[in-house]
Amino acid sequence: MSTTERDALKRLAAIHAVRYVKPGMTVGLGTGSTAVHAVREIARRHSAGELPGLQTFATSSEIARVAAAEGLPLIDAEGPRTIDLTIDGADEVDPHLNLIKGGGGALLHEKIVAQATRRQIIVVDESKMSPCLGTLHQLPVEIIPFGRESQHKFLQELGGRPALRTAVGGAPFVTDEGNLIYDCTFGPIANPEELAAELSSRSGVVAHGLFLGMTDDLIIGTPGGIRHLQRDQVTGLVREVPA
Ligand code: A5P
Repeated sequence: MSTTERDALKRLAAIHAVRYVKPGMTVGLGTGSTAVHAVREIARRHSAGELPGLQTFATSSEIARVAAAEGLPLIDAEGPRTIDLTIDGADEVDPHLNLIKGGGGALLHEKIVAQATRRQIIVVDESKMSPCLGTLHQLPVEIIPFGRESQHKFLQELGGRPALRTAVGGAPFVTDEGNLIYDCTFGPIANPEELAAELSSRSGVVAHGLFLGMTDDLIIGTPGGIRHLQRDQVTGLVREVPA
C-alpha cells in the first residue's frame, strides 16, 4: 500500500474518532501524522460552531503549533487536572490494544496526557496491527542525557539493540523536555509488562513507548471501511463494536 493510501486510511480513522468530541470537553491532542488529521477535523467542527466550550491540550510543541494555526483554544503547559477524551496515534497495536508509541518523539507527554485522560481513543491505519509488540516497530526509550552510555548498556542487557535517534543533519534528536531517545530493536516482546516494569524502575529513563492497558477505543482505517474495537478497563476484554 502506498504512503498516500495509508494516509487516506489514517484520515478516515481520525475523522471517525472526532465524532466522540462533544461541546464543553477538554480534549487531548496526540502527535503524529494521524493525530494531525484529528486536530484538523476538531478545528473544522469548532469553527463551524459545533463545539462550544471546547478546550484542548497538546502532547507536543509540534501539534500545539498545528492546533494554534487552526484556531483551537489551547491550555498551557501546566495542563488541566483531567482530560475528557484524547485522540492519539500509535506505531504498533497488539490484540489487547497495548501499544508501542513514540515514533514522533512525544512519548513522555503522550503518556502523561493518556494517564490524565478518561477516554483514550487510538486511531491507526490497519498496517499498525500486530500479533505481538516489537514485531513491527522499535521501542523508543526516552532518557536524560546524563549517563547515556550506561543506559545503552542497560538496554542491551535487557535484550534490546539500542540506536540513538538522530535528527535531520545527524545530531541527536532532542525531545520537548530536552531528553534523548534510544530506539531499541527487541523483536517480538514476549512479556511487555515485565519489560515495562524494568524500564520504569531505571533511574535516568524518563519514559518508554509501551502503553499498556491505556487504550479504551481503537479505531482502524481499512480499505473496507472503519473498524472500532473497545477494551473493557475492568476485564481487559476487547470486543468489536459497530463503527
Ligand atoms: C508520536 O510520538 C507517536 O507516538 C505517534 O503517535 C506515532 O508515531 C504514530 O505516528 P503516525 O500517526 O505518524 O503514524
